[in-house]
Amino acid sequence: MRNLVDILDFTTKEIDELVAVAKDMIESPEKYAHACDGKILGTLFFEPSTRTRLSFTSAMMSLGGNVLGFSEAASSSVAKGETLSDTIRMVSVYADIIAMRHPKEGAPIVASRVATVPVINAGDGGHFHPTQTLTDLLTISRKKGRFDNLTVGICGDLKYGRTVHSLIAAMSRYENVKFVLIAPEELKLPDYVKEEFLTGKTYVETDNLENAIAELDILYMTRIQAERFTDPTQYERLKDVYILDAAKLKSAKADLSIMHPLPRVNEIAVDVDDDPRADYFVQAENGRYIRMALIMMLLKTKGINDVRYKGEENAELECVNPHCISHTERGLKKLFVGDTCVYCDQHAARK
Ligand code: CP
Repeated sequence: MRNLVDILDFTTKEIDELVAVAKDMIESPEKYAHACDGKILGTLFFEPSTRTRLSFTSAMMSLGGNVLGFSEAASSSVAKGETLSDTIRMVSVYADIIAMRHPKEGAPIVASRVATVPVINAGDGGHFHPTQTLTDLLTISRKKGRFDNLTVGICGDLKYGRTVHSLIAAMSRYENVKFVLIAPEELKLPDYVKEEFLTGKTYVETDNLENAIAELDILYMTRIQAERFTDPTQYERLKDVYILDAAKLKSAKADLSIMHPLPRVNEIAVDVDDDPRADYFVQAENGRYIRMALIMMLLKTKGINDVRYKGEENAELECVNPHCISHTERGLKKLFVGDTCVYCDQHAARK
């Protein structure tokens, strides 16, 4: 049994296969209309979503399957104090596969340990969002025809941007990819992401979008996420730090691909929407097809649960990330590899 907790759970070969199947689904959706007849997808969304939840729902329905679930924690028994582990144990007996979004980082690892069906991470706090990355990779493949030899600009909230962290993890495995990381000081890419995925890779950091735009093959804009800030005044100060508009695109390449995981607020002006380089709405549409391919692939896998997130208890260490699931899930063993928390990948502190 396979899970998708982190994009690195899949090899580049498996990603190529998923992308190829998704492209075939776009061309010939009727071939797959009964691929998941009689199967049930559980969509457990403890955080708001439009694209991810609805594209998973649409994907399963397009494969002939059914969907059950909830779109907010308040309408589940979590509101009565039930743990995530117990919730997942229950849904494992009602559904054949689970897609879950949770505000706590590492929550899908906890779920994958107790689930008896495949678990898909549909976003865990500011940590990872691997199915968005599959969506992004399908978009890049359709637009550029390759994953290597690309200069990828990523702009906005690189600190809390889970889509950014997963995209960097995925793209760092390809040849001759240069990352241009565009963010204000307060929202720079966290060290744990740099250490894990960018060691030995080519990247530059800047806070200037206008200066960076001319060299980019891909510009991946992101929203400054109000919901992740602990200090609302900092959000107010940073919320409109980058606004991509038609004027700024004058120096960009003719074949630039402008991407955004959406939702957007102000960071892409509506005057960009009609530019042929604007790929973000097609990107969202691609999410439906790649999730169809993913569901089909995971439902075919058999055998034991492939949980790869192992570590050891260490009474001397404490995870200092307030958003880590290890602080809230009752009865959860706090596990570390060296001084790194298994759940959220951040360095722990000595007590
Ligand atoms: N891209 C994305 O995750 O969008 P939603 O929050 O609407 O699911």
